[in-house]
Amino acid sequence: MIDLHCHIIPWIDDGADSAHVACEMAEHALRSGVDTIVCTPHCNISDDIPNYRGRDYDVCFSMFRALLRQHDIPLRVLPGCELFASRSNLRKLLDSRRIVTLNHSRYLLTEFNFNDSGERMTAALDMIARRGMIPVIAHPERYDCVQHDPELAVGWFAKGYIIQLNKGSLLGLLGERAFHAGTHLLASGIAHVIASDAHDERYRTTGLRSVIPVLERFCSEEYIELLLETNPNRIIRDRHIPAPDF
Ligand SMILES: [Fe+2]
Repeated sequence: MIDLHCHIIPWIDDGADSAHVACEMAEHALRSGVDTIVCTPHCNISDDIPNYRGRDYDVCFSMFRALLRQHDIPLRVLPGCELFASRSNLRKLLDSRRIVTLNHSRYLLTEFNFNDSGERMTAALDMIARRGMIPVIAHPERYDCVQHDPELAVGWFAKGYIIQLNKGSLLGLLGERAFHAGTHLLASGIAHVIASDAHDERYRTTGLRSVIPVLERFCSEEYIELLLETNPNRIIRDRHIPAPDF
């Protein structure tokens, strides 16, 4: 399996807070059948967590890769980020091209303030798409506006934007409302990808195997493969993603 959303690079955001934790997260992922992780530190969430594309990012990423090599951990890691799009600097930032897309593909993992409005989110997603990128919407089931009106996510899906649900939401670890919205989107067949959004090795962990029993309640075997393997693989290879037909 491929995990497209994971805060595993140590020290760079609120994810792994030591090299030891990062290695534990990597080993847990491997044990649970994940062989590839796209590293997606928060980007632009505040001036303290920039993680824009550039030398600092490249150095952190290379050091992390070297750390895994030193510890003989055979996990494939790829570059990426989780862009916080609820800021007024978005237009300027997009135009500067200083953003690390998922494995340098057209696909950009994008997150919002949980209580941002649906209109503002749609405007930001459209702004990203107008620049030739394809937004991968991080955990829409966690946003207030989607929890109140899941049709919003249907509209994003119809525009060809990618819907990424969190493992933790589907396991009920991120609140009842996220669970209900997440399972609703899943049962509607508009989810494209499930990812861990792991931050540590205790509460928000790596690994995707634990979510499979929940997926089996709502999805066919074929759809589960699409969510955990086929679509993430298309994204890291910069391939087109057809709409799921379930
Ligand atoms: Fe995240």
